[in-house]
Amino acid sequence: MSNQLKGKNIIITGAGSATGIGAGLAFGLAERGANIAICDVNEEGARKVAADISEKLGVETIAIKVDVTQRAEMQEMVKSTVSAFGQLDVMINNAGIIEHSAFLELTELSWQKLMNVNAMGTMIGIQEAAKQMITQGRGGKIINMSSIASRQSFPAFAHYCASKWAVAALSQAAARQFAEHKINVNCMGPGIVKTAMLDGLDREFLSKGLTKELGDAIHDLSAGIPLGRYSLPSDLVGTAAFLASPDSDYMTGQNILCDGGMVML
Ligand SMILES: NC(=O)c1ccc[n+]([C@@H]2O[C@H](COP(=O)([O-])OP(=O)(O)OC[C@H]3O[C@@H](n4cnc5c(N)ncnc54)[C@H](O)[C@@H]3O)[C@@H](O)[C@H]2O)c1
Repeated sequence: MSNQLKGKNIIITGAGSATGIGAGLAFGLAERGANIAICDVNEEGARKVAADISEKLGVETIAIKVDVTQRAEMQEMVKSTVSAFGQLDVMINNAGIIEHSAFLELTELSWQKLMNVNAMGTMIGIQEAAKQMITQGRGGKIINMSSIASRQSFPAFAHYCASKWAVAALSQAAARQFAEHKINVNCMGPGIVKTAMLDGLDREFLSKGLTKELGDAIHDLSAGIPLGRYSLPSDLVGTAAFLASPDSDYMTGQNILCDGGMVML
């Protein structure tokens, strides 16, 4: 395993779910030498992931409870990370939620819930990381978790898609805003990843009578992926490591899909 991120200090939000993308990235980036702040609204989950990584890899991790929709908690998260590691080099705004809803049944409440966490949480994360990186004066990398849903929209997930298009839009605006500070802002967009989020959707489809058996939704959503399978969080580590490393110094405002070829534009 390369040491390409040795000494880099990275915050990952939404990293407290053991099978999630955030935890998978935390493992993979720690293997490449980074120190990771595992941040999540689920404090116990964050502690477990952090302890597991430290034990298996012998690297420095910290666990921080944070709700990404709460400005003061996000400020505290950055402060605690800097006081533990010395500075912040990379911010990964990964926390997110999803819900299925037929288009005509979509409510204001569902819209606000998803937009708050996925879009506003990313906005706050970008702002608080950028402020810290500007103060440090050494540039930095901000990586936002988009989705195939940031390029194509699906009627049963209109609010989720809108929130992920918002993530892509915020990333472009921030990329232009912070370029003079050598802060790169990019997105990475997974397709179908086997995590608790996807398992939750599988149960939701079954309970609404949209599928017959557990596993059907994952099977149906994965059908036709050109690379022949759904992905695991480990499939996404290479892209995150690239965006976190100096190899991507001349890239900003981009939205890289890592989706097995589901969306080609
Ligand atoms: N799983 C997929 O197929 C898929 C595909 C494309 C994009 N994504 C995106 O990847 C990201 C991670 O998804 P995942 O599949 O690992 O989901 P997950 O549900 O497995 O993990 C998400 C984590 O975010 C945390 N979280 C939720 N709300 C939060 C909040 N307000 N503040 C802080 N933490 C919060 C949860 O506690 C959980 O630990 C999300 O942004 C999601 O939209 C997932």
